[in-house]
This record gives sequence, structure tokens and C-alpha cells, in this order.
Amino acid sequence: MNLPFAAVEARAPGKIILAGEHAVVYGRPALAVPVFGVQARVRVTPAPQAWVHAPAVHLDAALADLPAMHPLRQAVERTWAALATRPRPVRVHIASTIPVAAGLGSGAAVTVAIVRALAAFAGRVLPPEQVNALAYAVEKLHHGTPSGIDNTVITYGRPLVYRKGAGWELLQVARPVPLVIADTGHPAPTRDMVAGVRTRWQAARDRYEALFDAIAEAVAAARHALAVGDLPALGRALRANQRLLQAIGVSSPALDTLVDAALATGAYGAKLSGAGGGGNMLAVTPPEGQAAVAQALRAAGATRVIVTTLPPTEAA
Ligand code: MEV
Repeated sequence: MNLPFAAVEARAPGKIILAGEHAVVYGRPALAVPVFGVQARVRVTPAPQAWVHAPAVHLDAALADLPAMHPLRQAVERTWAALATRPRPVRVHIASTIPVAAGLGSGAAVTVAIVRALAAFAGRVLPPEQVNALAYAVEKLHHGTPSGIDNTVITYGRPLVYRKGAGWELLQVARPVPLVIADTGHPAPTRDMVAGVRTRWQAARDRYEALFDAIAEAVAAARHALAVGDLPALGRALRANQRLLQAIGVSSPALDTLVDAALATGAYGAKLSGAGGGGNMLAVTPPEGQAAVAQALRAAGATRVIVTTLPPTEAA
């Protein structure tokens, strides 16, 4: 039991986008799932002054010394405001195993964990809609024009179909989906990648709108394949999505190398995941093929490989 103003801890998972990134910023649907194998953990303890300690980003500072719009400072201040409480000073200790700037939602997960930990510290539980709204507000500081998919999948911790402005639906998954997630080791700065797509969209709107529509078709095909448990069809949809991500200029030689290595080792489909430019890719494999694909990705230069399986959703 958490007593008010005792030390508390809260966690939030990472996330991976199965299909539809970037187009989701322009109102098309996208599919995302939580990744529980990595997580952000936030511990809040009473302290002589408000303090933030985030060793992964070499930060150890008084909250008041951070720039006013720093996302961590904003996460703390906005949460206290939402709780309408005047707390005693706390030390916020952030320990995340989610790689930073890798397309796995580290920023959103840290915010969600901060919001939940501060609420618990005050002896409260905020409803998920409010946690999500706070995390979205902080995402805007990280990324400029986020769609809201990262904070939503991380807050609710469910596989979902997300559409900006229309909320989310549970993604139906008929049978286990073997996944291999591999990191290029190159940073994927979401803000820059999203801004680059916007610049190219502004210069060629018709072409980019058509590409976003084609991504929406790949998303619909992937969604149907998941709902009926057709892994080869899911793979085809992901391959189509990857070609379209290349066309909007967000893949990279390192991502293409990993995608090719996965396909050459029998993956049904493979694509970059998240903002691109670096960060992670994912492959859908036959159930018996995960280990070989993981091995091939390491041999092709992946700096970190996560082997996981998306579980089926319960029948409604
Ligand atoms: C980043 O995880 C996904 C993007 O579509 C950006 C966004 O949706 O905010 C690239």
C-alpha cells in the first residue's frame, strides 16, 4: 500500500509501431504495441529540494536549474498542477532500460512513469485519460508535432489502432506474432525526422498525400492479417509499408541492411519502426525462425536485438 508522501515507484513499458508511422501524423491510422521487455522506472522520494536524477542522460540537477520548458521539468510541474496539490519537495529518480532516441518510446514512457509516480506519491491515482493527456503535452515539447500514438500505447499498455483526433481501438490479434526487433545503433531523432517529412510534404503535397494513403492501405492490410492470424499476409503488408517509408525518405542504409538481412533469413516481412533515420527495425518471422533472424541481424550489425512474441488478444 502506498501511504501519501512515502517513497513510491511507477513503471511504463516501451512501444513499437507495427505499421503506419509518419502517415499517422497526417491523420492516417497506425498500429502500435507495448513492449514490456524494456521499461522506464521512476522512483520518487522526499528530498530537501526538488531534484531530478536521470543517469542514462547524465542528468543530476535541481528541478529549478533545468530550463523552464525542459520536458522532465514540465512533466513534474504539469503533474503537480493536474493533482492540484502543493507537494513537499521530491527527488525524481529515472532508471529506464528503453534505449533513448531509438523509436521505442523512451520519452513518452519516462513521462508516463513520472506522472504515475508523482500521483502515487500524493496518494492518488490519475485516470488513464489524464495520464495520456499530460504525456501528450510533454511529447509536444520533445517532438513538435507528435501524433499522440506513443503516449497512448504506453499509457494504456495494449496493442492498438490509433488515429489522431479519433482516439484508439484495441487491435485484434488472432494468433501469436513472433517478432524480432533490432537496433541500428544510430540515433533516430524523432523531431528532425518528423520535421523533414513535413518539409518534403510542403514541397510536394499531392505526392505525399498519395504516399500516406498508400501507407494507410498497408496498415489496413496488416490489421486484417493480424485479425485473421495470417502471418505471411502481415509480412507482405510490412514490406509494402517499408517501401513507402523509403519513398518518404525516412529509411537509412543501416535500416535497409537490417531489413534485407531479416528477409534473406526467412522473415515474412521487415520494416523500420518509429521515426526512422536510425533506431530500430522489426521483423515478423515464422515461429521457428526467430532465432535465425535474430542471429542474422546481429551478424548484419544490429547493436541490440529483442526477441519477443505479440500475444493474441482475448476474443471479445
Ligand atoms: C514516432 O514513434 C512515430 C512518428 O509517427 C511520429 C508520431 O507519430 O508522432 C514518426
